[in-house]
Amino acid sequence: MSIQQKPKSLWRPILISTAIAVVFGGYLDSITGVAQQTVQAAETQLAAIGPLPARKAPRASLVEMGKRLFFDARMSGDGAISCATCHDPAQGFTRQVGKEGKPMALSDAYPGTRHFRNAPTLLNSVYKADFAEVGWGWDGHIGANMNDVIRDQITETMMLNLDMRLMHERMKQDAVYVEMCQENFNGECSSGKGRKALVAFVETLVSKDAPFDNGSLSDAAKKGQTLFEGKAGCINCHNGPYFSDGEPHNTGMPENMDVFKDPLRHIAYRAVLTNHGVPNAENWRRDVGFFFVSKRYADVGKFITPTLRELKYTAPYMHNGLLTSLEDVVEFYNQGGGKDDPLADVLQPLGLGAQEQKDLVAFLESLSSTTPVTVEKIKISQEYEPIPNWLEAHN
Ligand code: HEC
Ligand code: HEC
Repeated sequence: MSIQQKPKSLWRPILISTAIAVVFGGYLDSITGVAQQTVQAAETQLAAIGPLPARKAPRASLVEMGKRLFFDARMSGDGAISCATCHDPAQGFTRQVGKEGKPMALSDAYPGTRHFRNAPTLLNSVYKADFAEVGWGWDGHIGANMNDVIRDQITETMMLNLDMRLMHERMKQDAVYVEMCQENFNGECSSGKGRKALVAFVETLVSKDAPFDNGSLSDAAKKGQTLFEGKAGCINCHNGPYFSDGEPHNTGMPENMDVFKDPLRHIAYRAVLTNHGVPNAENWRRDVGFFFVSKRYADVGKFITPTLRELKYTAPYMHNGLLTSLEDVVEFYNQGGGKDDPLADVLQPLGLGAQEQKDLVAFLESLSSTTPVTVEKIKISQEYEPIPNWLEAHN
């Protein structure tokens, strides 16, 4: 389904009306009763946070096929990395720790380059499909639906760098995939069938026993929820069961200067700017965010509101991984977000006391499954039969 065909988000009117309510809240207090009623109506609609709607489980055999592809390094051009390298099931389907045990604010990329964004979690990402009118990725610049996103992840040179025809060949040459394609599609393997299987696998990565969903909130978390929906105003952007309005906003996150200091990240960033036809691609010294997509200057520095589910397992936070704990995130918002960026004017200081900040963190934690959602890693034999002495044979 294309972006244009997406049904309008149910949550959008809530955002607009409550943003107005928050900005003009104090002012409205002093004016007409009609305006008061509007604010109350908006607040009633805000109860839209709640458990995620159930989804039809994809076919188990298709999920198995997707899972195998997910861990299969042959799905990268040079056979060195797989989806699981950056979306590690043992690390909340993101990557928190790098090779030498260093925290990973910014993702790895295809060997020989590095990425300029944090690897987002894949947990619950299937729910993005319900509202992702602006596209996927931190700023909406990758793909309009999960199948497109996965195609991009596979073919993009800085990601898996695998041509779709090669994917097709590699699947066809593997007896296990041949059987799986027969079972699931009653036919020969193809890259398209592989992508469908990967989508089915990612669809299964959803929260299962979060205290917020099963009604077992601690007292602190309950107080945190009241703040979340009231004084702290988080719900203005993090709303609906996925805790996101699917819209771009500028919270004023400072830049992660590693993007510009590390030549490999820098060159990757410039390449992506250029490929997306971003004006002035060679000069930007900041992550332009949603400007990638819209090319409107007012959108520079905006990122799509991410989900708040499973945060316990997905640190560090934000598009550039600069905030390492939920305490830091809450402190960031308490100060009114980042202030250096003149375009970031949506957030105001919240005036939360130390206990209130703790309660808000407790609420955020209650949105994570008690037992981490994960899958067991599968080992894949990668025994190719390379042609012996290929060069000699051809000389
Ligand atoms: C080299 C690291 C790397 C590999 C390999 C990789 N990803 Fe990603 N993935 C990322 C990063 C980084 C982003 C965010 C990109 C951005 O916002 O600019 C991302 C974004 C995504 C998203 C969008 C998530 C969202 O919330 O919008 C999905 C879905 C995804 N990847 C799935 C996959 C799958 C499936 C594979 C394997 C076929 C894969 N990725 C391979 C690093 C990687
Ligand atoms: C104006 C809209 C808006 C409001 C209000 C808002 N957020 Fe956010 N939130 C965002 C956006 C946009 C991002 C992504 C920013 C980035 O990546 O640079 C984000 C990111 C986050 C993250 C990081 C998630 C991750 O996976 O990295 C957390 C946690 C968070 N917000 C919590 C909160 C809390 C708690 C509040 C209330 C105190 C709040 N937000 C208020 C829009 C908002």
